Amino acid sequence: MTKPTNPKTFHVKSFGCQMNVYDGERMAELMAAQGLTATDDANAADLVVLNTCHIREKATEKVYSDIGRLRKHGKDPMIAVAGCVAQAEGVEIAHRAKVDIVVGPQAYHNLPDLVAKASRGELGLDTDMPVLSKFGALPARRKVGPTAFLTVQEGCDKFCTYCVVPYTRGAEISRQWDALVDEAKALVDAGAKEITLLGQNVNAWSDGDRDLGALIRELDRIPGLARIRYTTSHPNDMTDGLIAAHRDVEKLMPFLHLPVQAGNDRILKAMNRSHSRDSYLRILDRVRTARPDIALSGDFIVGFPGETEAEFADTLSLIDEVGYAQAFSFKYSPRPGTPAADMDGQIAPEVMDDRLQRLQAALNRDQAAFNAASVGRTCQVLIERRGKLPGQMLGKSPWLQSIHLITDAQVGDLVEVEIVSAGPNSLAGIERVRVAA
Ligand code: 5AD
Ligand code: SF4
Repeated sequence: MTKPTNPKTFHVKSFGCQMNVYDGERMAELMAAQGLTATDDANAADLVVLNTCHIREKATEKVYSDIGRLRKHGKDPMIAVAGCVAQAEGVEIAHRAKVDIVVGPQAYHNLPDLVAKASRGELGLDTDMPVLSKFGALPARRKVGPTAFLTVQEGCDKFCTYCVVPYTRGAEISRQWDALVDEAKALVDAGAKEITLLGQNVNAWSDGDRDLGALIRELDRIPGLARIRYTTSHPNDMTDGLIAAHRDVEKLMPFLHLPVQAGNDRILKAMNRSHSRDSYLRILDRVRTARPDIALSGDFIVGFPGETEAEFADTLSLIDEVGYAQAFSFKYSPRPGTPAADMDGQIAPEVMDDRLQRLQAALNRDQAAFNAASVGRTCQVLIERRGKLPGQMLGKSPWLQSIHLITDAQVGDLVEVEIVSAGPNSLAGIERVRVAA
Protein backbone atom coordinates (compact mmCIF):
# COMPACT_ATOMS: atom_id res chain seq x y z
CA MET A 1 0.00 0.00 0.00
CA THR A 2 1.24 3.49 -0.70
CA LYS A 3 1.36 6.09 1.98
CA PRO A 4 -1.70 8.38 1.82
CA THR A 5 -1.07 11.93 0.73
CA ASN A 6 -3.72 14.56 1.47
CA PRO A 7 -5.26 12.34 4.16
CA LYS A 8 -9.05 12.16 4.44
CA THR A 9 -9.37 10.46 7.83
CA PHE A 10 -7.45 10.96 11.06
CA HIS A 11 -7.02 9.55 14.53
CA VAL A 12 -5.47 11.34 17.51
CA LYS A 13 -4.07 9.27 20.38
CA SER A 14 -3.00 11.13 23.51
CA PHE A 15 -0.68 9.78 26.19
CA GLY A 16 0.20 11.26 29.58
CA CYS A 17 -1.33 14.19 31.35
CA GLN A 18 -4.67 15.98 31.04
CA MET A 19 -3.00 18.84 29.23
CA ASN A 20 -2.14 16.38 26.48
CA VAL A 21 -5.79 15.27 26.41
CA TYR A 22 -6.77 18.93 25.93
CA ASP A 23 -4.14 19.43 23.19
CA GLY A 24 -5.37 16.23 21.51
CA GLU A 25 -8.95 17.54 21.47
CA ARG A 26 -7.81 20.83 19.98
CA MET A 27 -5.78 19.06 17.28
CA ALA A 28 -8.83 16.94 16.43
CA GLU A 29 -10.99 20.08 16.16
CA LEU A 30 -8.34 21.63 13.90
CA MET A 31 -8.21 18.61 11.58
CA ALA A 32 -12.02 18.44 11.46
CA ALA A 33 -12.11 22.14 10.52
CA GLN A 34 -9.79 21.22 7.61
CA GLY A 35 -12.42 18.78 6.36
CA LEU A 36 -10.83 15.55 7.64
CA THR A 37 -13.04 12.92 9.27
CA ALA A 38 -12.20 11.52 12.70
CA THR A 39 -12.04 7.75 13.14
CA ASP A 40 -11.84 5.78 16.39
CA ASP A 41 -9.77 3.08 14.72
CA ALA A 42 -6.11 4.07 14.42
CA ASN A 43 -5.52 1.23 11.96
CA ALA A 44 -8.13 2.62 9.57
CA ALA A 45 -6.86 6.23 9.58
CA ASP A 46 -4.90 7.98 6.81
CA LEU A 47 -3.27 10.26 9.38
CA VAL A 48 -2.41 9.21 12.94
CA VAL A 49 -1.31 11.82 15.46
CA LEU A 50 0.53 10.34 18.43
CA ASN A 51 0.37 13.00 21.11
CA THR A 52 3.23 11.81 23.26
CA CYS A 53 4.45 12.03 26.86
CA HIS A 54 8.11 12.23 27.92
CA ILE A 55 7.69 12.31 31.68
CA ARG A 56 8.97 8.79 32.40
CA GLU A 57 10.98 6.32 30.34
CA LYS A 58 8.06 3.91 29.90
CA ALA A 59 5.88 6.68 28.49
CA THR A 60 8.52 7.45 25.84
CA GLU A 61 8.98 3.78 24.89
CA LYS A 62 5.25 3.48 24.24
CA VAL A 63 5.57 5.87 21.29
CA TYR A 64 8.05 3.66 19.49
CA SER A 65 6.02 0.51 20.08
CA ASP A 66 2.88 2.31 18.88
CA ILE A 67 4.61 3.38 15.67
CA GLY A 68 5.70 -0.24 15.12
CA ARG A 69 2.14 -1.50 15.67
CA LEU A 70 0.68 1.06 13.27
CA ARG A 71 3.15 0.04 10.57
CA LYS A 72 2.20 -3.60 11.05
CA HIS A 73 -1.59 -3.37 11.34
CA GLY A 74 -2.51 0.05 9.92
CA LYS A 75 -2.76 1.24 6.33
CA ASP A 76 0.77 2.70 6.36
CA PRO A 77 -0.65 6.01 7.53
CA MET A 78 0.97 9.39 7.60
CA ILE A 79 2.30 9.54 11.18
CA ALA A 80 2.63 12.74 13.18
CA VAL A 81 4.46 12.66 16.49
CA ALA A 82 3.20 15.51 18.65
CA GLY A 83 3.59 16.33 22.34
CA CYS A 84 6.61 16.27 24.61
CA VAL A 85 8.62 13.49 22.91
CA ALA A 86 8.39 15.50 19.68
CA GLN A 87 9.63 18.58 21.53
CA ALA A 88 12.45 16.74 23.30
CA GLU A 89 13.71 14.64 20.40
CA GLY A 90 12.82 16.84 17.43
CA VAL A 91 14.32 15.71 14.16
CA GLU A 92 15.91 12.69 15.88
CA ILE A 93 12.57 10.96 16.10
CA ALA A 94 11.94 11.51 12.39
CA HIS A 95 15.22 9.79 11.62
CA ARG A 96 14.88 7.01 14.16
CA ALA A 97 11.22 6.13 13.56
CA LYS A 98 10.76 7.45 10.00
CA VAL A 99 7.68 9.49 10.82
CA ASP A 100 6.26 12.17 8.52
CA ILE A 101 5.56 14.98 10.97
CA VAL A 102 7.16 16.09 14.23
CA VAL A 103 5.26 18.87 15.99
CA GLY A 104 5.83 20.26 19.49
CA PRO A 105 3.16 21.21 22.04
CA GLN A 106 3.48 24.93 21.26
CA ALA A 107 3.31 24.52 17.47
CA TYR A 108 0.38 22.22 16.75
CA HIS A 109 -1.75 25.03 15.33
CA ASN A 110 0.54 24.63 12.27
CA LEU A 111 -0.52 21.01 11.78
CA PRO A 112 -2.43 21.72 8.51
CA ASP A 113 0.73 23.20 6.92
CA LEU A 114 2.79 20.27 8.16
CA VAL A 115 0.30 17.78 6.70
CA ALA A 116 0.53 19.62 3.36
CA LYS A 117 4.31 19.45 3.54
CA ALA A 118 4.28 15.73 4.34
CA SER A 119 1.87 15.20 1.44
CA ARG A 120 4.59 16.62 -0.83
CA GLY A 121 7.00 14.05 0.56
CA GLU A 122 8.89 16.48 2.81
CA LEU A 123 9.38 16.19 6.57
CA GLY A 124 6.90 18.38 8.45
CA LEU A 125 8.91 19.64 11.40
CA ASP A 126 7.90 22.38 13.85
CA THR A 127 9.18 22.47 17.41
CA ASP A 128 9.21 26.24 17.82
CA MET A 129 7.95 27.67 21.08
CA PRO A 130 6.26 30.96 20.21
CA VAL A 131 4.56 32.46 23.22
CA LEU A 132 0.81 31.91 23.04
CA SER A 133 0.26 32.24 19.28
CA LYS A 134 -1.20 28.73 19.21
CA PHE A 135 -4.46 29.47 21.01
CA GLY A 136 -5.47 32.39 18.79
CA ALA A 137 -4.94 30.22 15.70
CA LEU A 138 -7.21 27.36 16.81
CA PRO A 139 -10.87 27.02 15.78
CA ALA A 140 -13.62 27.85 18.32
CA ARG A 141 -14.96 25.12 20.62
CA ARG A 142 -18.24 23.69 19.30
CA LYS A 143 -19.33 20.48 20.98
CA VAL A 144 -17.99 19.05 24.20
CA GLY A 145 -19.16 16.60 26.87
CA PRO A 146 -20.38 17.62 30.34
CA THR A 147 -16.80 17.87 31.60
CA ALA A 148 -14.28 19.90 29.65
CA PHE A 149 -10.69 21.01 30.02
CA LEU A 150 -9.46 24.54 29.58
CA THR A 151 -5.72 25.21 29.44
CA VAL A 152 -5.04 28.47 31.26
CA GLN A 153 -1.31 28.19 31.84
CA GLU A 154 1.53 26.24 30.31
CA GLY A 155 5.12 25.53 31.12
CA CYS A 156 7.21 25.45 34.23
CA ASP A 157 9.99 27.58 35.73
CA LYS A 158 10.45 25.42 38.80
CA PHE A 159 13.15 23.07 37.46
CA CYS A 160 12.68 20.18 39.85
CA THR A 161 15.84 18.18 39.26
CA TYR A 162 14.04 15.03 38.06
CA CYS A 163 11.63 16.64 35.61
CA VAL A 164 11.70 17.20 31.84
CA VAL A 165 8.68 19.50 31.71
CA PRO A 166 10.60 22.82 31.86
CA TYR A 167 12.54 21.63 28.80
CA THR A 168 9.63 20.21 26.78
CA ARG A 169 6.89 22.69 27.67
CA GLY A 170 9.08 25.75 28.13
CA ALA A 171 8.78 28.68 30.51
CA GLU A 172 5.64 29.47 32.53
CA ILE A 173 3.15 31.48 30.52
CA SER A 174 -0.42 32.48 31.35
CA ARG A 175 -3.17 32.94 28.80
CA GLN A 176 -5.03 36.22 29.04
CA TRP A 177 -8.13 36.81 31.10
CA ASP A 178 -10.47 37.76 28.23
CA ALA A 179 -9.48 34.81 26.03
CA LEU A 180 -10.07 32.44 28.94
CA VAL A 181 -13.44 33.86 29.94
CA ASP A 182 -14.54 33.70 26.28
CA GLU A 183 -13.36 30.10 25.89
CA ALA A 184 -15.07 29.10 29.15
CA LYS A 185 -18.35 30.61 27.92
CA ALA A 186 -17.95 28.83 24.57
CA LEU A 187 -17.40 25.54 26.42
CA VAL A 188 -20.58 26.04 28.45
CA ASP A 189 -22.51 26.94 25.25
CA ALA A 190 -21.08 23.74 23.72
CA GLY A 191 -22.47 21.64 26.57
CA ALA A 192 -19.92 21.73 29.41
CA LYS A 193 -21.28 21.69 32.98
CA GLU A 194 -17.89 21.32 34.59
CA ILE A 195 -14.64 23.00 33.55
CA THR A 196 -11.24 21.85 34.76
CA LEU A 197 -8.64 24.57 34.43
CA LEU A 198 -5.34 23.08 33.32
CA GLY A 199 -1.72 24.04 33.62
CA GLN A 200 1.59 22.40 34.47
CA ASN A 201 1.57 24.88 37.35
CA VAL A 202 -2.02 25.99 37.04
CA ASN A 203 -2.00 27.97 40.26
CA ALA A 204 0.92 30.05 38.97
CA TRP A 205 -1.59 31.52 36.51
CA SER A 206 -1.78 35.30 36.67
CA ASP A 207 -2.83 38.22 34.54
CA GLY A 208 -1.47 41.45 35.99
CA ASP A 209 -2.42 41.43 39.65
CA ARG A 210 -5.22 38.87 39.17
CA ASP A 211 -4.50 35.35 40.38
CA LEU A 212 -6.24 32.03 39.73
CA GLY A 213 -8.66 32.75 42.60
CA ALA A 214 -9.85 35.87 40.74
CA LEU A 215 -10.32 33.92 37.50
CA ILE A 216 -12.33 31.28 39.35
CA ARG A 217 -14.56 33.99 40.84
CA GLU A 218 -15.18 35.32 37.32
CA LEU A 219 -16.02 31.87 35.92
CA ASP A 220 -18.36 31.36 38.88
CA ARG A 221 -20.61 34.00 37.26
CA ILE A 222 -21.15 32.02 34.03
CA PRO A 223 -24.76 30.79 33.99
CA GLY A 224 -25.05 27.07 33.29
CA LEU A 225 -21.58 26.27 34.59
CA ALA A 226 -22.05 24.07 37.66
CA ARG A 227 -18.54 23.04 38.64
CA ILE A 228 -14.99 24.34 38.49
CA ARG A 229 -11.83 22.35 39.14
CA TYR A 230 -8.13 22.99 38.49
CA THR A 231 -5.00 20.90 38.19
CA THR A 232 -1.95 20.56 38.65
CA SER A 233 -0.75 22.84 41.39
CA HIS A 234 2.56 23.65 43.03
CA PRO A 235 2.56 24.21 46.82
CA ASN A 236 4.45 27.50 46.51
CA ASP A 237 1.75 28.99 44.28
CA MET A 238 -1.18 28.45 46.67
CA THR A 239 -1.99 32.15 46.97
CA ASP A 240 -4.22 33.62 49.67
CA GLY A 241 -6.70 34.54 46.92
CA LEU A 242 -6.93 30.97 45.68
CA ILE A 243 -7.35 29.59 49.19
CA ALA A 244 -10.10 32.18 49.82
CA ALA A 245 -11.84 31.06 46.61
CA HIS A 246 -12.06 27.57 48.14
CA ARG A 247 -13.88 29.16 51.07
CA ASP A 248 -16.24 31.40 49.05
CA VAL A 249 -16.97 29.86 45.66
CA GLU A 250 -19.50 27.09 45.89
CA LYS A 251 -18.89 25.96 42.29
CA LEU A 252 -15.23 25.36 43.09
CA MET A 253 -15.19 21.67 43.97
CA PRO A 254 -13.69 20.62 47.32
CA PHE A 255 -10.75 18.80 45.81
CA LEU A 256 -7.08 19.74 45.62
CA HIS A 257 -4.33 17.92 43.77
CA LEU A 258 -1.17 19.24 45.40
CA PRO A 259 1.90 17.13 44.60
CA VAL A 260 4.58 16.89 47.29
CA GLN A 261 6.76 14.08 45.80
CA ALA A 262 8.51 13.17 49.07
CA GLY A 263 8.23 13.65 52.81
CA ASN A 264 11.89 14.15 53.69
CA ASP A 265 13.53 17.58 53.66
CA ARG A 266 16.92 16.45 52.36
CA ILE A 267 15.24 14.72 49.41
CA LEU A 268 12.94 17.70 48.79
CA LYS A 269 16.02 19.92 48.65
CA ALA A 270 17.82 17.55 46.27
CA MET A 271 14.69 17.58 44.12
CA ASN A 272 14.81 21.41 44.16
CA ARG A 273 11.18 21.48 45.28
CA SER A 274 11.69 24.79 47.12
CA HIS A 275 9.27 23.81 49.87
CA SER A 276 9.78 21.71 52.96
CA ARG A 277 7.66 18.99 54.49
CA ASP A 278 6.53 21.44 57.11
CA SER A 279 5.70 24.32 54.78
CA TYR A 280 3.64 21.89 52.67
CA LEU A 281 1.71 20.72 55.72
CA ARG A 282 1.09 24.31 56.80
CA ILE A 283 -0.40 25.11 53.37
CA LEU A 284 -2.73 22.12 53.71
CA ASP A 285 -3.79 23.40 57.13
CA ARG A 286 -4.76 26.75 55.61
CA VAL A 287 -6.67 25.10 52.78
CA ARG A 288 -8.50 22.85 55.23
CA THR A 289 -9.41 25.82 57.38
CA ALA A 290 -10.90 27.52 54.31
CA ARG A 291 -12.73 24.39 53.11
CA PRO A 292 -12.95 21.76 55.86
CA ASP A 293 -14.39 19.01 53.64
CA ILE A 294 -11.67 19.31 50.97
CA ALA A 295 -10.33 16.03 49.58
CA LEU A 296 -6.59 15.95 48.97
CA SER A 297 -4.58 14.28 46.27
CA GLY A 298 -0.86 14.21 45.50
CA ASP A 299 1.99 12.85 43.41
CA PHE A 300 4.87 10.84 44.87
CA ILE A 301 8.20 9.65 43.54
CA VAL A 302 10.00 6.75 45.22
CA GLY A 303 13.69 5.97 44.76
CA PHE A 304 15.00 9.43 43.99
CA PRO A 305 18.83 9.17 43.79
CA GLY A 306 20.31 8.74 47.26
CA GLU A 307 16.98 8.09 49.00
CA THR A 308 17.66 6.02 52.12
CA GLU A 309 15.18 3.71 53.83
CA ALA A 310 14.77 6.26 56.65
CA GLU A 311 14.12 9.06 54.15
CA PHE A 312 11.54 6.92 52.37
CA ALA A 313 9.91 6.26 55.75
CA ASP A 314 9.40 10.03 56.04
CA THR A 315 7.25 9.89 52.90
CA LEU A 316 5.16 7.14 54.47
CA SER A 317 4.72 9.16 57.65
CA LEU A 318 3.70 12.24 55.64
CA ILE A 319 1.03 10.14 53.95
CA ASP A 320 -0.20 9.00 57.37
CA GLU A 321 -0.29 12.59 58.54
CA VAL A 322 -2.22 13.97 55.54
CA GLY A 323 -4.68 11.18 54.74
CA TYR A 324 -5.01 11.51 50.96
CA ALA A 325 -8.32 10.75 49.26
CA GLN A 326 -6.35 9.55 46.22
CA ALA A 327 -2.85 9.93 44.79
CA PHE A 328 -0.46 9.03 41.99
CA SER A 329 2.87 7.39 42.68
CA PHE A 330 5.83 6.61 40.48
CA LYS A 331 9.25 5.01 40.53
CA TYR A 332 11.94 7.59 39.81
CA SER A 333 12.88 7.47 36.14
CA PRO A 334 16.09 9.21 35.06
CA ARG A 335 15.31 11.61 32.22
CA PRO A 336 18.06 12.63 29.81
CA GLY A 337 19.27 16.18 30.38
CA THR A 338 17.86 16.56 33.88
CA PRO A 339 20.27 17.13 36.82
CA ALA A 340 19.04 14.13 38.82
CA ALA A 341 19.92 11.73 36.01
CA ASP A 342 23.61 12.41 36.74
CA MET A 343 23.36 12.25 40.53
CA ASP A 344 25.18 9.60 42.55
CA GLY A 345 23.24 6.95 44.41
CA GLN A 346 20.79 5.80 41.72
CA ILE A 347 18.51 3.30 43.44
CA ALA A 348 18.34 -0.38 42.43
CA PRO A 349 15.13 -1.41 40.62
CA GLU A 350 14.16 -4.01 43.25
CA VAL A 351 14.45 -1.41 46.02
CA MET A 352 12.21 0.93 44.02
CA ASP A 353 9.69 -1.86 43.43
CA ASP A 354 9.55 -2.62 47.13
CA ARG A 355 9.14 1.04 48.11
CA LEU A 356 6.48 1.66 45.50
CA GLN A 357 4.53 -1.33 46.74
CA ARG A 358 4.62 -0.14 50.35
CA LEU A 359 3.74 3.42 49.33
CA GLN A 360 0.80 2.29 47.24
CA ALA A 361 -0.44 0.04 50.04
CA ALA A 362 -0.57 3.10 52.32
CA LEU A 363 -2.27 5.24 49.66
CA ASN A 364 -4.80 2.51 48.85
CA ARG A 365 -5.58 2.12 52.55
CA ASP A 366 -6.26 5.85 52.86
CA GLN A 367 -8.33 5.97 49.67
CA ALA A 368 -10.46 3.06 50.92
CA ALA A 369 -10.90 4.82 54.28
CA PHE A 370 -11.90 8.08 52.59
CA ASN A 371 -14.44 6.27 50.40
CA ALA A 372 -15.81 4.26 53.33
CA ALA A 373 -16.27 7.48 55.30
CA SER A 374 -18.40 8.84 52.42
CA VAL A 375 -21.07 6.19 52.90
CA GLY A 376 -24.20 7.86 54.26
CA ARG A 377 -23.22 11.23 52.79
CA THR A 378 -25.57 13.00 50.39
CA CYS A 379 -23.93 14.94 47.59
CA GLN A 380 -24.42 16.09 44.01
CA VAL A 381 -23.22 13.85 41.20
CA LEU A 382 -22.62 15.10 37.67
CA ILE A 383 -23.65 12.33 35.28
CA GLU A 384 -20.85 11.76 32.75
CA ARG A 385 -21.74 8.53 30.91
CA ARG A 386 -23.71 5.30 30.80
CA GLY A 387 -22.67 2.34 32.94
CA LYS A 388 -22.54 -1.31 31.91
CA LEU A 389 -25.81 -2.36 33.56
CA PRO A 390 -29.26 -1.40 32.23
CA GLY A 391 -30.32 1.99 33.60
CA GLN A 392 -26.94 2.51 35.23
CA MET A 393 -25.19 5.87 34.90
CA LEU A 394 -21.72 6.96 36.03
CA GLY A 395 -20.65 10.29 37.38
CA LYS A 396 -18.41 12.06 39.86
CA SER A 397 -18.95 13.32 43.37
CA PRO A 398 -17.63 16.77 44.33
CA TRP A 399 -14.60 14.92 45.76
CA LEU A 400 -13.84 13.34 42.35
CA GLN A 401 -15.03 9.89 43.39
CA SER A 402 -16.61 7.72 40.68
CA ILE A 403 -20.24 7.05 41.57
CA HIS A 404 -22.60 4.59 39.89
CA LEU A 405 -26.35 4.69 40.27
CA ILE A 406 -29.56 3.52 38.63
CA THR A 407 -31.40 6.54 37.30
CA ASP A 408 -33.22 7.88 34.27
CA ALA A 409 -31.10 11.04 34.48
CA GLN A 410 -29.14 11.83 31.34
CA VAL A 411 -25.50 12.65 30.66
CA GLY A 412 -24.92 16.22 31.88
CA ASP A 413 -27.60 16.11 34.59
CA LEU A 414 -26.79 16.87 38.21
CA VAL A 415 -28.39 14.47 40.63
CA GLU A 416 -28.52 14.57 44.40
CA VAL A 417 -27.34 11.19 45.54
CA GLU A 418 -26.97 9.35 48.81
CA ILE A 419 -23.82 7.23 48.83
CA VAL A 420 -24.78 3.77 50.03
CA SER A 421 -21.69 1.62 49.61
CA ALA A 422 -18.01 1.92 48.76
CA GLY A 423 -15.84 -0.40 46.66
CA PRO A 424 -12.11 0.04 46.10
CA ASN A 425 -12.50 2.23 42.98
CA SER A 426 -16.08 3.41 42.91
CA LEU A 427 -19.10 4.02 45.10
CA ALA A 428 -22.77 3.15 44.73
CA GLY A 429 -25.39 5.83 45.13
CA ILE A 430 -29.17 6.17 45.26
CA GLU A 431 -30.85 9.11 43.58
CA ARG A 432 -32.66 11.49 45.94
CA VAL A 433 -33.38 14.64 43.93
CA ARG A 434 -32.80 15.87 40.39
CA VAL A 435 -30.98 19.21 40.46
CA ALA A 436 -31.45 21.79 37.71
CA ALA A 437 -28.00 22.76 36.39
N1 5AD B 1 10.43 10.06 37.38
C1 5AD B 1 9.30 9.65 38.01
N2 5AD B 1 8.22 10.42 38.18
C2 5AD B 1 8.28 11.67 37.66
N3 5AD B 1 7.37 12.66 37.66
C3 5AD B 1 7.92 13.72 37.00
N4 5AD B 1 9.15 13.42 36.58
C4 5AD B 1 9.40 12.16 36.98
C5 5AD B 1 10.52 11.29 36.86
N5 5AD B 1 11.65 11.67 36.24
C6 5AD B 1 6.07 12.58 38.30
C7 5AD B 1 5.92 13.63 39.39
C8 5AD B 1 5.00 14.62 38.78
C9 5AD B 1 4.14 13.74 37.90
C10 5AD B 1 3.41 14.45 36.81
O1 5AD B 1 5.06 12.83 37.36
O2 5AD B 1 5.32 13.00 40.52
O3 5AD B 1 4.23 15.35 39.73
FE1 SF4 C 1 3.99 14.15 29.79
FE2 SF4 C 1 4.51 16.22 31.32
FE3 SF4 C 1 4.48 16.46 28.70
FE4 SF4 C 1 2.20 16.09 30.06
S1 SF4 C 1 3.58 17.81 30.17
S2 SF4 C 1 2.82 15.12 28.17
S3 SF4 C 1 2.93 14.68 31.66
S4 SF4 C 1 5.90 15.28 29.90
